[in-house]
Amino acid sequence: MKKAEFLPSLYTHNAIIDAQHQELINTINKLYEAIDSGKGTDEAKNALAFLMQYTVFHFGGEEKLMQEDKYPLFTEHKAAHDAFVETVKGLYQKLMEEGATEDFADQVEQEITNWLIVHIKGMDLKMIEWKNHRSGNQMDNLM
Ligand code: FEO
Repeated sequence: MKKAEFLPSLYTHNAIIDAQHQELINTINKLYEAIDSGKGTDEAKNALAFLMQYTVFHFGGEEKLMQEDKYPLFTEHKAAHDAFVETVKGLYQKLMEEGATEDFADQVEQEITNWLIVHIKGMDLKMIEWKNHRSGNQMDNLM
């Protein structure tokens, strides 16, 4: 069975954001379990619906933080969030139409798990680093 791992390299050292990322990883694993359980698609639908809901909540929190701090890369970061929400919606549609297939699990790995890991290590870490060091030369951390 596929598994998502919350590796040390994913820590942003912002306790709230790290806890939310951990919850997202846990939810991805529930989705993998549901796909693997062979109990049909209902369990997978519930897990994916929760993932979508929790992702929107998490992104909303980060976006509020970025807006409050006038983060210079807000637009790019929000665009990445919006694109991901659309991806998850597309996967939900696919799940409804085709069921929890192996191909679906592969797509979840590529488009949800791998995306999330790259996003956290890139955009999220950069944003938190900027937030933590914005009293210095801010733009040096962004290039
Ligand atoms: Fe933690 Fe930008 O999502």
